[in-house]
Amino acid sequence: MSTLLSLKKVNLNYQAGKATIKVLQDITLKTNNKETISIVGESGSGKTSLIMLIGGLEKATSGTIFFRDYEITRLSEDEVSNIRRKHIGIIFQSFYLIPNYTAVENVTLTLELNKFNNPQKQAKELLDRFGLKHRFNNLPSQLSGGEQQRVAIARSIALRPELILADEPTGNLDSENSKMIADILFNYVKDEGTSLIIVTHDVKLANRAKRKIKIKDGKIV
Ligand SMILES: Nc1ncnc2c1ncn2[C@@H]1O[C@H](COP(=O)(O)OP(=O)(O)O)[C@@H](O)[C@H]1O
Ligand SMILES: [Mg+2]
Repeated sequence: MSTLLSLKKVNLNYQAGKATIKVLQDITLKTNNKETISIVGESGSGKTSLIMLIGGLEKATSGTIFFRDYEITRLSEDEVSNIRRKHIGIIFQSFYLIPNYTAVENVTLTLELNKFNNPQKQAKELLDRFGLKHRFNNLPSQLSGGEQQRVAIARSIALRPELILADEPTGNLDSENSKMIADILFNYVKDEGTSLIIVTHDVKLANRAKRKIKIKDGKIV
């Protein structure tokens, strides 16, 4: 099995006036291709910050992060965002759909911007796969929370990333919709051989991952 991600002694500090807040401390972690990992821990323990570092949305204060052969801790912001666009899909608790775009248009846009062939056809295929055929032309405001998250997931994976980062993707959903989103995500990564790192408070959801990582006060325990 080959290594996908490798973090070595990664630290993240925030400066609050003169005080330094140590958000993540000496995080060392290796993940393999196709692995599913859940990250659990109390609110404020640093889970989102870790996702942001791995996704290159935040810069580590020290330490090294490799995504495949790319040492993202040494690359420029532009280089990192190129790598992210090509290889990493990120799903958040909030859906961040474009409000005046339909479900299909929200997914199509990403494919179009990245010059994929037949963007609309691909968008429809994905949405159909996630049970949203009857919602193609609805605006986000006309969709339930579970449906909006399914559109957001379709958009996040439209470019076929090797790694999906999901930060409490069911945090805004009731248990029935949470189960559906979990099924969609775990079935997708199994079928496509994608890696998944998922942050969640939901024990059942966390247990579906092959490996579980617990963070406490910014450290892996
Ligand atoms: N931009 C920021 N500036 C200062 N402190 C921050 C910032 N983002 C997060 N923090 C702090 O870092 C800690 C970890 O936050 P976070 O990664 O969001 O935790 P979690 O996702 O586990 O709830 C918290 O104490 C939070 O207040
Ligand atoms: Mg968080």
